[in-house]
Amino acid sequence: MPQGQLAQVLGGVIDQTDERLLVGPGSVDDAGIVALDTVVEGGTGLALVQTVDYFPPVVDDPYFYGAIAAANALSDVYAMGGRPLSALNLAGFPSEFPDEWLAEIFRGGFDKMREAGAVVAGGHTVRSKEAQFGFAVTGVVEREACITNAGAREGDRLYLTKPIGMGTMTTAAKAGRVEPEQLEPASRLMATLNADAAEAMCAAGASACTDVTGFGLAGHAHNVAAASGVTLRIDLRSVPIFPGAFDLARAGSLSGGSKRGRASLGEGVGIDLGLDESLVGLAFDAETSGGLLIAIAPERAAALEGELARRSVQAHSVGGCTGPSERRVELV
Ligand code: CO
Ligand code: CO
Ligand code: CO
Repeated sequence: MPQGQLAQVLGGVIDQTDERLLVGPGSVDDAGIVALDTVVEGGTGLALVQTVDYFPPVVDDPYFYGAIAAANALSDVYAMGGRPLSALNLAGFPSEFPDEWLAEIFRGGFDKMREAGAVVAGGHTVRSKEAQFGFAVTGVVEREACITNAGAREGDRLYLTKPIGMGTMTTAAKAGRVEPEQLEPASRLMATLNADAAEAMCAAGASACTDVTGFGLAGHAHNVAAASGVTLRIDLRSVPIFPGAFDLARAGSLSGGSKRGRASLGEGVGIDLGLDESLVGLAFDAETSGGLLIAIAPERAAALEGELARRSVQAHSVGGCTGPSERRVELV
């Protein structure tokens, strides 16, 4: 559902006044943070990081679909600096779906949860017209260590830990424009946990973070900029693009989300006139289980690069933060 419409509908409904709610839906963060009553002696206190995400199949392979849905749901916990603890599965399947497919989807999802060190504590499965699969994930974080959208500061540098272009790959695959051999590496990338990237940013002391998913790179950058009161200046030419995605975008394989996202952000995103249109389209296109977009103070950037490299995370420096301006995001 479009972000603006949802915010309007929820506007009068959400109660942000409960003091246990440390980070709530109002800040457009990746996950909610709820304080635990019990504070361990000498500590700042643990908090729960809670999030939920499910979606229809993004790839044909049932095992990968399950694994990608799990990696994507876990990603919101990682983006906030949390450690996954447990998960509840949410699923809906059409009656004609073969049992072998269901088993593979669940296996992919549960394997990924195990890899993340989270226990699947239960779930709920219904019949639905279209297949849907995902998880509600609970993580834990030290209250002081939690990383939100709101911490980016003027002068911070920006890093992205996975290439973009997944919306284009999956859209093209659905239209039969991508061979299975080409989609498999994309599926692997989407199923890759953001655990190592998150560990690296926590170790280096990131100021803000979000994972790049449905609103695309530009949309999520916009959320960080708005919450932090800065402008995110993204050097699009240094943003990593998944192999083949650029050509597919040029051939018109952007998902519907790209146009919608661009229209809804409107004046909030400045686009340098010299930029290639397909590249701009990719920046707005929806991602599935994308990487972390990390803001970090310039004096800590080298430490972050070191922590990322040590964990073999292929991160790219993609721009920086400037003071507040009319536009939240500048694509240059
Ligand atoms: Co997120
Ligand atoms: Co989410
Ligand atoms: Co139930």
